[in-house]
Amino acid sequence: MQENTAQKEPRAWWKEAVIYQIYPRSFMDANGDGIGDLAGITSRLPYLRELGVDVLWLSPVYASPNDDNGYDISDYRAIMKDFGTMADFDTLLAAAHRAGIKIVMDLVVNHTSDEHPWFIESRRSKENPYRDYYIWRPGKDGKEPNNWASCFSGSAWQYDAATGEYYLHLFSKKQPDLNWENPKVRDEVYDLMTFWCDKGIDGFRMDVISLISKDQRFPDGPVKPDGYGDFSPYCVSGPRVHEYLQEMNRRVLSHYDLLTVGEAAGVTIEEAKKYARSDGKELGMVFQFEHVGEGNGKGSIIEKWTTGKPKMPKVRAILNKWQRELAGCAWNSLYLDNHDQPRCVSMFGNDSPRWRVRSAKMLATCLHMQKGTPYIYQGEELGMTNTQFRSLADCRDLEEINAWHEYVDEQQRVTPETMLACFDNVARDNARTPMQWDASENAGFTTGTPWIAVNPNYREINAAAEISDPDSVFSYYQRLIALRHKYDIIVYGDFLPLLEDDPAVYAYERRLGNERLLVACNWTEHEAPCTLFDAPMGGKELITNIGAHKKGALLPYEARVMLFES
Ligand code: GLC
Ligand code: CA
Repeated sequence: MQENTAQKEPRAWWKEAVIYQIYPRSFMDANGDGIGDLAGITSRLPYLRELGVDVLWLSPVYASPNDDNGYDISDYRAIMKDFGTMADFDTLLAAAHRAGIKIVMDLVVNHTSDEHPWFIESRRSKENPYRDYYIWRPGKDGKEPNNWASCFSGSAWQYDAATGEYYLHLFSKKQPDLNWENPKVRDEVYDLMTFWCDKGIDGFRMDVISLISKDQRFPDGPVKPDGYGDFSPYCVSGPRVHEYLQEMNRRVLSHYDLLTVGEAAGVTIEEAKKYARSDGKELGMVFQFEHVGEGNGKGSIIEKWTTGKPKMPKVRAILNKWQRELAGCAWNSLYLDNHDQPRCVSMFGNDSPRWRVRSAKMLATCLHMQKGTPYIYQGEELGMTNTQFRSLADCRDLEEINAWHEYVDEQQRVTPETMLACFDNVARDNARTPMQWDASENAGFTTGTPWIAVNPNYREINAAAEISDPDSVFSYYQRLIALRHKYDIIVYGDFLPLLEDDPAVYAYERRLGNERLLVACNWTEHEAPCTLFDAPMGGKELITNIGAHKKGALLPYEARVMLFES
């Protein structure tokens, strides 16, 4: 008998919810300037209600010069001009709440924009009261203080002539890292969080929160293929990160009933158990990256750039490990897509016209029947696919642009053709093309010129066509969400992996009380032998993505979920 941990799992609204991530720039443009905005989101609340999601996570909507599309904030208490005003935000929040939908804000506090008043002050002089809000170091032998690479190419240090020192930026040079060692910085962060909580928001997604505490010795990191050093050993889950989060929890989070999820690139299971500990002393859950990262077997050409695809058995091994290890002590978040990832149907599934719909549904089934809180990224519920990059001019994301300059132009390590093929496969802009609302010009996203080109397949793939089609990816997501709301076993049931050596079928069970849920998904375009459903067991089919099953096999990309009671 398997021990049933579910009984002791503390219940929480955010464990029972389905989250929908909005990338506001690309969701809906209400005023025709080509950029999505808050009024656009408000206008689409009926769509989100129809889908059935419980929570919206908004990628950053704060004032920003948009070096990294809002992940570089210049005022935490103001709305980005492109997106509207604080009044538009209040309207959205109230309308969402009326519709029974909660709102979670992105919290980007590992760094600010270099145009934030704190940084403008900080760079003025070494004596400035804001100097210590950021991480300044003198050079070493006329060079950077250490060998760390920025996540967006080049050194993580930028020389500033005004004071003759370098500041640290783990991301772009317009995203200087805040110095969390300074208690004043932490006070500022807690204050701004309180400002938003008092407005009535329902939670935070915390951007790269695993990086806020740096090893104060700032040692060189192991040298990577691009010649720079890896900062991870000294910044990922650094020495004081848990102390800081516990302080944040005491000072802010514990006073409200919030969903909190930490973006935690590089996080190990052991660390995740601390961040997302079920006693609620830190965060509700974290995003881990193993299944979307290097570990999934897709290989790489240089750094993250690859034309490879993940291998299901590796993805399964990673996801099952997280399911197993967090059981009873921390809560998982479940995702395949977000604004930093390629489209999941293109990456994990099959975006050819023949298999797109079925494989998108299969992936959704495989993810949504697992234990944890599922996240849907805008357009995923339509089976939106990767786009195509014909030249650098098609790119908007600074990560792509910087990588091109470094690896193609300067170092000539990669040909333009190879780089474009990598972009087609993994570039973040694949996720950032406008939401495909209908078959009209610009997919109904804007009446103006969209800030980034619409994916040319919008005439076939769009919300208007899918909403009324019971066989669409949209309708399928609707059903998956409704199932989660109806069946406790999907939320709280124990997870038990099955067939862990099968090359094609990802299968598992969930158990709660006298109920058993059996899930099997064929991740390949070939029929796969599978006898899991052959015994005459009765039971009820909760969902499947095909018309008729075949005994002894799963059809290409078939997914099937059965519920049994004993
Ligand atoms: C996170 C965000 C990403 C951003 C980076 C720097 O990874 O998801 O979009 O570029 O942090 O803020
Ligand atoms: Ca607009």
